[in-house]
Amino acid sequence: KLGIFTYDPGFTSTCSTKSAITYIDGDEGVLLYRGYPVEQLAEKSSFIEVCYLTLHGELPSATQLAEFDQSIRRHTMLNESLRKFFDGFNYDAHPMAMMTGVVGSLSAFYHDTTNNKDPKHREIFAHRMIAKIPTIAAAVYKKTVGQPFVYPKNDLDYSSNLLRMMFAVPAEEYEINPVAAKALDVLFILHADHEQNASTSTVRMAGSTGTNPYAAISSGIAALWGPSHGGANEAVLEMLNEIGDVKHVPAFMQKVKDKVEGVRLMGFGHRVYKNFDPRAKIIREQCHKVLKALGKENDPKMELALKLEEIALNDDYFKQRKLYPNVDFYSGIIYEALGIPVNMFTPMFAVGRTVGWCAHWNEMTADSTTRIARPRQVYTGAAVRDYTPVAQR
Ligand code: SDX
Repeated sequence: KLGIFTYDPGFTSTCSTKSAITYIDGDEGVLLYRGYPVEQLAEKSSFIEVCYLTLHGELPSATQLAEFDQSIRRHTMLNESLRKFFDGFNYDAHPMAMMTGVVGSLSAFYHDTTNNKDPKHREIFAHRMIAKIPTIAAAVYKKTVGQPFVYPKNDLDYSSNLLRMMFAVPAEEYEINPVAAKALDVLFILHADHEQNASTSTVRMAGSTGTNPYAAISSGIAALWGPSHGGANEAVLEMLNEIGDVKHVPAFMQKVKDKVEGVRLMGFGHRVYKNFDPRAKIIREQCHKVLKALGKENDPKMELALKLEEIALNDDYFKQRKLYPNVDFYSGIIYEALGIPVNMFTPMFAVGRTVGWCAHWNEMTADSTTRIARPRQVYTGAAVRDYTPVAQR
């Protein structure tokens, strides 16, 4: 007995969330979005089409896709007052700090989507969020490099628009590389959703209170920032830079196995996948394609990553712990090859994952049985006791 609380060792918090959006089989390395294998979607679909599928549950007809695409393109601009938010940040603010703040501020601008029970409000919110997150990410990047923001262009596809908003400058035209745009589109497909990961669960937890949807998405961005989650893609590149050369791999791996404080093989391991993360295989193939197309097939970081994977997959320490490459292991190599700086890798993850967060938020708020999330705990503190006056302490 813990005093007034009877501690029941059998007490467990049954927070079994129901969802129809994504299915993962961690042992078999299976990932389905609304029943479709992510491998097929990455090869045959587009990110905009996957956004429609993730939100609506079915692949769109040609007309539905065209209307959805048009709606997204027409929501890409930001309220001009939002630019003033960026004046408050220093140029060296971490991009994820700016993403969290600016997305949270959307709550202050949009009052026409506050009725979470109205399907039209939910649809407008999702279209607006999916459309604006690339514009916000590009603006965040421009802030860090001290260049003027670039407006979206509605005649460009989703990924091409983002690349142009990031890299175009008034002084010269920017030519969009179709290989780069396609690679980004595939990466966004692979990051679109992933069941109840930490950031999605955060969005659902915040959303269950009935809060403004933009505030809920901002909480998801904050959770994604962590190096154990979406921040891992940035940590992988820092790790590869730290190792430097293939000859230093054995010494690094020994530090990992000796559990030297703070040394982990970033981009490896997963709470659910105890087999290959199917996304990692696709991204590795994309890496080869993109590097070759950009004339960077001898990228030393790719060579180093492949060597790390080869060693880890043949090392008992990793095999016993079922540690395989995850979605973050190779993605940073592609981002870097596209000219995206390391500190923008996690914002790229957030761009792809926003549709998943919106789909889960919509699924949860549309469910009339949803109640406020309220996990319980196992109490491990002091038993009940009486207050003692300071003179007696
Ligand atoms: C994402 O949930 C999702 O779906 C997330 C995500 C998504 O799409 O939303 O898939 C995206 O976040 C992918 C994960 C990105 N994170 C990283 O790559 C960071 C490095 N990975 C680890 O920190 C770790 O693998 C986690 C956090 C991903 C998973 O942690 P677990 O399952 O809690 O593993 P654990 O900490 O219980 O480790 C089990 C054992 C431990 O060793 P022992 O105590 O048994 O001796 O494996 C070891 C750990 O030390 N281990 C690692 C390791 N990951 C686990 N050892 C070295 N390097 C690693 N990366």
